[in-house]
Amino acid sequence: MTVTTLSRQGAIAIVTVNNPPVNALSQALRQGLWDAVATCDADPDIRAVVLICAGRTFIAGADVSEFGKPPMEPHLPDLVNRIEAAAKPWVAAIHGSALGGGFEVAMGCRFRAALDTASVGLPEVGLGIVPGASGTVRTPRLAGVAAAVELVTTGKPLGAAKAQSMGLLDAVVTGDLLQGALDFTLTALEQPLPLPISERPVAAPAPEFWAEQQTAIARRAKGEAAPLRALDCLRKATEAPFAEALAFERATFLDLRGSEQAAALRHVFFAERAAPRPAHLAGVPPLPLRHTGVIGGGTMGAGIAAALRDADLPVVLIERDAEALARGVANLRSIFDAAVKRGRLTADQAEARMAGITPSTDYAALSDTDLVIEAVFEDLSVKHAVFDALGRFCRSDAVLATNTSYLDPRRIAEGLPNPARFIGLHFFSPANVMKLLEIVPVPETAPEVLATGFALGRALGKIPVQAGICEGFIGNRILKRYRMAAESLLRKGVTIAKIDAAMRSYGFAMGPFEAQDLGGLDIAFLQREAARASGQDVPETLGDLLVRAGRKGQKTGAGWYDYAPGDRTPRPSDAVAKLLADRIMPTAAPTDIAAYLVAEMAAEGQAILADGIARNAADIDLVKIHGYGFPRWRGGPMFASGTRG
Ligand code: 3HC
Ligand code: NAI
Repeated sequence: MTVTTLSRQGAIAIVTVNNPPVNALSQALRQGLWDAVATCDADPDIRAVVLICAGRTFIAGADVSEFGKPPMEPHLPDLVNRIEAAAKPWVAAIHGSALGGGFEVAMGCRFRAALDTASVGLPEVGLGIVPGASGTVRTPRLAGVAAAVELVTTGKPLGAAKAQSMGLLDAVVTGDLLQGALDFTLTALEQPLPLPISERPVAAPAPEFWAEQQTAIARRAKGEAAPLRALDCLRKATEAPFAEALAFERATFLDLRGSEQAAALRHVFFAERAAPRPAHLAGVPPLPLRHTGVIGGGTMGAGIAAALRDADLPVVLIERDAEALARGVANLRSIFDAAVKRGRLTADQAEARMAGITPSTDYAALSDTDLVIEAVFEDLSVKHAVFDALGRFCRSDAVLATNTSYLDPRRIAEGLPNPARFIGLHFFSPANVMKLLEIVPVPETAPEVLATGFALGRALGKIPVQAGICEGFIGNRILKRYRMAAESLLRKGVTIAKIDAAMRSYGFAMGPFEAQDLGGLDIAFLQREAARASGQDVPETLGDLLVRAGRKGQKTGAGWYDYAPGDRTPRPSDAVAKLLADRIMPTAAPTDIAAYLVAEMAAEGQAILADGIARNAADIDLVKIHGYGFPRWRGGPMFASGTRG
């Protein structure tokens, strides 16, 4: 396939890139662009070159799938230099996203014009690397050091208008991009050409700038290497000549590209892109999703309804009585109000979100819904009553889903007239924020209903992962093992504070005990108690002792730690030490606490794979990263412990 084609419009050459799906800079594309420079330079009738892309986006970056292989010529930094040094000025015409190497190619061009809907960015730190083709060297020369630091060290793409205001783009066009870029080029040719970016000066920032950035970025990065290494490159770009800074950046790029962190982040990158469209559902059409319903407006129901509204799906919200319904609507209102406060939504958008909610206590309001998600109390008889009503009031082809955490979905589905349309959709709290969606089919679930679960995940921007039926599905089952393993360390005499600190320095925002204090110890306790009451042999946990002593976590001012009123700072507790004293027998404990706890998670992951509960190890990694705060740059427990199958 030809990945570049050349055409003409008067004296302007048009180089069109066509390398689906995202025009990544494969060796063939680099070669194609390299040759296009030579062709255009050799043609005396050509005055300028417009570089434009076919398909959904401008060049989205280096080809990440080539990263594990030896670099092949022409190398990207050489290509960017060659475009910049071309005898005819090149103009990048950007739609979709110009990311990473794509934006670096655009900076090799003399001008950058973009559609108003386009975005540009240098997302390399998200892959554990730094820009490798002059991104850290040209960006400060194009837009100043402060803008470059923001773009490179956060990796966040910017919309066209913002990018133009920062000097990253020369023109923003609406409508026909090619026509807009041609018009822009003709006008630009009437003026003297600006200097190539590599020849522009760069202003050094105030002396304290680098130290301040270093501190701020180290705090954010929590052990992730790339953002700080990117800062080093940016500093070099302001202190050394262009070629020297470029060589420094390239060496840093190649060093990081071979690092464990970069391998982990690449693993997550591809796992995230594979998850929403699993191979076993290829060709299975999902059912249409136009109208939805949610039963229960509590913590989860309100969050799920908000997530559905964020995807512009109308929602019928059902509660058990008028009072509970008013509370459910208020819960939703406060979710959107908070989004307005944080600047995520405008007041008008929040109103529109609310306007798409139809609150009701009458199941008849669900008569036209395509999908209903139940999020009522975790009680089998309450759930049965709900599904009995859904079976009577919903269309016979509507998908009926439960958000249960621990009940067996097969038992919830008992008695449904058509269990083929039943499925578990397990959201995580807060449901409008957390990316993970566990999709749990029962044996009767029809393939197109399963496919609908994944389609819903895609529509909501979630990471959908299929889970089989067992206690806790994938995520909570591993969480339980993790907590038990942490308690076993505690029994061996390792302190609570030391265990939490070890997991924080591993990259979690919180250790296992702090996290339980935040979420509350009582929910898991009540579950264990219920299991005991039903005759199961559930061994006593240390957490049970705490709850029995009234220590349920932050909400009672006391859990694994003590808390001063109005202060969430955990303080090691003498009372807990006394309470647990006779359960703790100091013996040899693993010295690398984090390695031990991650290995325990991975061992449970292995058991989950062996039981057929997860489809592959990468899915387990996604569950822990997107539902439980496992540090992304470690790749998830399976990747981190070498279980990559
Ligand atoms: N390399 C190889 N494959 C890529 C890729 C890349 N840079 N970016 C995306 N793909 C693949 C995906 O794996 C997926 O493949 P599949 O269809 O086989 O599953 C396909 O392209 C489509 O990707 P998305 O599902 O993500 O498509 P969207 O339309 O939702 O999003 C996008 C498009 C915004 C461009 C998004 O793909 C994206 O953000 N890509 C990554 C961009 C990136 O990180 N670029 C920097 C790379 S590093 C670099 O450039 C180094 C340089 O400085 C030297
Ligand atoms: P909640 O107690 O906050 O909300 C439950 C809501 O259901 C209440 O508003 C209640 O009025 C309503 N309700 C009860 N019976 C009803 C009926 N017959 N008809 C209509 N509405 C009824 O509970 P929460 O936390 O939202 O949990 C709901 C479900 O989600 C449970 O199955 C739980 O296991 C599951 N879940 C909870 C998570 C969490 O972090 N809280 C995470 C994932 C799943």
